[in-house]
Amino acid sequence: MTARLDEALRAQVGAVDERGTAKRHEPVVVDLLPAKGPKGPRLLLDDGRAYLRMNGNGYLGLATHPAVVWAEEQATRRYGSGPGAVRFISGTTREHVALEERLAAFHDRPAAIVFSAAYSAVVGTLAALTTPATAIVSDELNHNCIINGMRLAQPARKAVYPHLDLERLAAELDATTGVDRVLVVTDGVFSMRGDHAPLRELAELAAAHDHRFSDGVTLLVDDSHGVGALGETGRGTEELCNTRSGVLVATLGKALGVNGGYVVGSSALVDLLRETAPTYVYSNPITPGEAAAARAAVDVLDSEEGSALLANLQARTSQLREGITALGLETLPGRHPVVPLVVRDTARTRRLVTHLRDHGILATGLAYPVVPRGEDEIRFQVSASHTEADIAEVLEALATA
Ligand SMILES: Cc1ncc(COP(=O)(O)O)c(C=O)c1O
Repeated sequence: MTARLDEALRAQVGAVDERGTAKRHEPVVVDLLPAKGPKGPRLLLDDGRAYLRMNGNGYLGLATHPAVVWAEEQATRRYGSGPGAVRFISGTTREHVALEERLAAFHDRPAAIVFSAAYSAVVGTLAALTTPATAIVSDELNHNCIINGMRLAQPARKAVYPHLDLERLAAELDATTGVDRVLVVTDGVFSMRGDHAPLRELAELAAAHDHRFSDGVTLLVDDSHGVGALGETGRGTEELCNTRSGVLVATLGKALGVNGGYVVGSSALVDLLRETAPTYVYSNPITPGEAAAARAAVDVLDSEEGSALLANLQARTSQLREGITALGLETLPGRHPVVPLVVRDTARTRRLVTHLRDHGILATGLAYPVVPRGEDEIRFQVSASHTEADIAEVLEALATA
């Protein structure tokens, strides 16, 4: 690398710093401290202090569940720590196969396929499903993996509709002609706001236009934040909306507490993905230990214990939402454990994040371009491992801000 390129890179990073949106100063976790008395678990950071994590995606607290950790340990002892190759070369173990069977059964679908992350599941699926005669229609607030997936897929037509705007989506579908296949793509839960797509209405719109295209209109949902967090039994936005998508993608790395991503759908879909999804064919899978741990996590979710975890998650989420409103602060309505505190000002958001950290609470401030301009917020994420006292601690800290 030349010194001039190095200089140019330094200037690019400097521009990020000037905008005040730097992400690279990552807090370093050195230990996990178990729940004690009325308080839930804490993170010990390298500054020597213990913190309440209000910015984790582990909605059910399963990453430290004894059955999940035990399953990972046992599989790692049996198969070793890494997969050793991509799946079709020699990287498939019984654990990968068993996990896929469990995920297909959990979502009541014929088949499932596991990727190294939900990000690569979305990118690989969009690339594999998009032919030169495919149109993709996408919500403007969809996750970055969908945006980049569409870039790689290079559909014949690409349309983006305003967030949750069904009229504009219908108009985009009306305007779509000259293609064989249409994919309507949406996040199930939108991670920055905790709101969700009206999947029933989306499925109805897709069905209404289906006959106009030889391969029909397929609804593809990325419910990475929904599975394990929404619905009576944690089956996500589909369960909440009492409907189904044609292709469902989700992660193993949030509510399920492990790592990796997956797609469930028809056998033909999964066969095609195993043959052609580039992020599956050419990239290592999750480890055997992760596969075993993820299956154990699905088993916990799909049990009475899982129902109890979901109930506590709902109770703590309501406690935080109602507490924020009682303090006269702004949040968005909803049931999801992503609870935004809407601040609408970048500097104030940053000061609040610092105030919370000074009070032993880790929360993340979001500014443009992660959220639209003027919608700066602190994103709180509730977990079933939080206690009533933990949420009260957050509300007390906000009250003194
Ligand atoms: C909607 C959505 N899809 C995918 C991802 C990425 O998940 P993973 O970490 O499994 O790649 C995220 C995580 O932020 C997400 O919010």
